[in-house]
Amino acid sequence: MIIIYPDKILEQKTEPVTEINQEIKEIVKEMKKTMMKFNGVGLAANQIGKNLSIFIAENNGQILTFINPEIVSFKGEKQIMEEGCLSLPGIFGYIKRYPEVVISYQDLWGKKKKKTVEGLLAQIVQHEIDHLNGKLFIEEATDLFKIENKNEK
Ligand code: CO
Repeated sequence: MIIIYPDKILEQKTEPVTEINQEIKEIVKEMKKTMMKFNGVGLAANQIGKNLSIFIAENNGQILTFINPEIVSFKGEKQIMEEGCLSLPGIFGYIKRYPEVVISYQDLWGKKKKKTVEGLLAQIVQHEIDHLNGKLFIEEATDLFKIENKNEK
């Protein structure tokens, strides 16, 4: 089940994960199932009703898990990108995102990592970190339009 806009949990800053236990692993599993079911390319934990700092992202057929993610730095000039969201089905718009982002996070085994991402993955990372901060893309996007079934996050 995906939480659809408007809902308070989508507007709240999520809580850090303090221990990556079985419960957290189950939540990540549920997130992966949900994202695949709805053909998404990214999903934040608050989109399935869990107020936790976790998101997942699709990258070259693999699903990556980011726990307690933080942006370390942005690179390049912001570019206008088309964007949608699983919590706002069928709604798309244009938003400015950085082409490259350095992100720190923990993986499912609690290991601290740092990764440089670019292109679509960089866009997904910025969209999902906004979710974890209680922010939705429609707050900044312009020229919103409606279309069915396309690359939502
Ligand atoms: Co979204």
